Amino acid sequence: MLERWELVLKVAISGKGGVGKTTLAAILAYLFARDGYSVTAIDCDSSINLPSALGVKDVKPLSELREIIEQRVKGPFGIFRYNPKVDDVFENYSAINDFGVRVLVLGTIKKGGEGCFCPENAFLRAILRHAIFRDDVLILDMEAGIEHLGRGTAKGVDVLIAVVEPGTRAIETLGRIEKLAADLEIKKIGVVVNKYIDSPKVAELIGSISHPILGIIPYNQCFIQADLENLPPYRLCDLKPFEEIKKNLLRLGKQK
Ligand SMILES: Nc1ncnc2c1ncn2[C@@H]1O[C@H](COP(=O)(O)OP(=O)(O)O)[C@@H](O)[C@H]1O
Ligand SMILES: [Mg+2]
Repeated sequence: MLERWELVLKVAISGKGGVGKTTLAAILAYLFARDGYSVTAIDCDSSINLPSALGVKDVKPLSELREIIEQRVKGPFGIFRYNPKVDDVFENYSAINDFGVRVLVLGTIKKGGEGCFCPENAFLRAILRHAIFRDDVLILDMEAGIEHLGRGTAKGVDVLIAVVEPGTRAIETLGRIEKLAADLEIKKIGVVVNKYIDSPKVAELIGSISHPILGIIPYNQCFIQADLENLPPYRLCDLKPFEEIKKNLLRLGKQK
């Protein structure tokens, strides 16, 4: 048996649009929950699709809770609270799916980095800080750029997963993700190659990746089929490559 402290894992999944971030986020959430971990999954992408990939509907984006944001962030006499109370928001504005994963949707964070003290950003960052200390496993489904999270918020993230498709642009994306990890002080990057097809060019490309490769997911129609039928991908697709990714992720997360 593993010690409980060894199980805690916070991951951010990054990569360009359409590479398979949400698919990976949903399947990892499923596998960790199946194994008895408490799991929170947060959609931080502006094109929201994590709830449907986890089989839940009607999760309100937290950025739209205007009144609550006003109340919590702006205190009496115009005092601005940088660390507003959000624990109840977590309970009230999340959905729990059929295998126990808590799902939240962040909504749009205003760009502007750490210099921007807009109430929405203070609120959403407080949500993320709260999330980091809450459950065994936290999965953040991110857009390519998560720099607007700010360093303070991202500190609790153990591993940044870069999802790449085989293609020349994959390496460019990786470069950007490396810079992002450095900026946010996230020490570990793991790469997932998705939509893999067997070819010497692809093998060469994968060979050139210098970060640990957590796993390779073959290109498969089942993912598209799941999308078409609005079914979570773990209902239709082979989960073996994802089991491997989960195992390697735990190993990487534990490394000193
Ligand atoms: N291994 C795969 N093989 C084939 N299609 C895939 C694979 N992984 C994901 N897809 C499909 O690619 C599209 C984008 O995936 P998605 O997870 O939504 O990407 P992202 O969240 O990065 O934008 C979806 O239609 C999904 O079903
Ligand atoms: Mg997505």
